[in-house]
Amino acid sequence: MPLPAEIRPSQLAGDVRIVSSHAFRSFSELTSNSPQLYDSVVGLFMDTYNAPPWNEEWNDEMAGDYFGKLMQLPSQVTTVQEGSKVIGLFIGCTGSTREVVPLSVEAYFPEEPKEIVNEIKRRIFVKIEEVGGDQKPAFWGCDFAVPPEKRGAVIAGKLLREAIKYPIEKGITDMYGMTMIGSPFHTITERRGSRMLLEVKDVLPKNPRVFKIMDMRGLLQ
Ligand SMILES: CC(C)(COP(=O)(O)OP(=O)(O)OC[C@H]1O[C@@H](n2cnc3c(N)ncnc32)[C@H](O)[C@@H]1OP(=O)(O)O)[C@@H](O)C(=O)NCCC(=O)NCCS
Repeated sequence: MPLPAEIRPSQLAGDVRIVSSHAFRSFSELTSNSPQLYDSVVGLFMDTYNAPPWNEEWNDEMAGDYFGKLMQLPSQVTTVQEGSKVIGLFIGCTGSTREVVPLSVEAYFPEEPKEIVNEIKRRIFVKIEEVGGDQKPAFWGCDFAVPPEKRGAVIAGKLLREAIKYPIEKGITDMYGMTMIGSPFHTITERRGSRMLLEVKDVLPKNPRVFKIMDMRGLLQ
């Protein structure tokens, strides 16, 4: 039966939340095969990281460069969609720690001098070896975002559990990532057995970022 003209299907579907995960082998695969997904993802990414507590200064071009860098590795974009709006985002890439560590440090600290960037990488590698993560592939949790008005309703929890299902099925157990002391992601992973690889302030005084690694299976609980 046709719907009355004043009721649009999108209104009926407004409260339905769809959690889905998409795999991409390159940045151009994302932008050419799924341009709408890319626009929503970049929009949420920039709104989130340009706001407190991160206060970064992303624009479209910088975000395109950053996504291009991280998508040199096989990537997975997991979203929660409410109607046509993306209200949750998790991006993860898979690679050996020899691949993800340099890529991540260079992507997160594009403005820092090379010696600083190299020192951050060196210290992370030393610690990764200590915790036995150097011979294994890792799932790099690059970005995690839920818009402020939707936070505190376990959207991120659901998103994360969906995102890690696929790497775990492929036999990858380590999740590697950068976060900030005091951020929800720090709390979530701290409660579930993450291990600190580096407090960036040891290299860049006052910088609150930290690099961590954890067994993702702990996040399924
Ligand atoms: C991180 C973020 C995605 C969490 O989204 P969310 O949907 O509000 O999170 P949830 O409601 O699913 O909560 C997930 C966990 O975080 C905890 N949490 C949520 N907000 C928190 C806060 N402000 N401080 C500490 N912990 C918090 C919850 O208690 C829950 O932990 P639990 O599973 O152990 O009970 C969201 O706050 C965000 O987009 N922040 C800005 C971007 C960011 O910091 N991303 C992480 C970068 S590493």
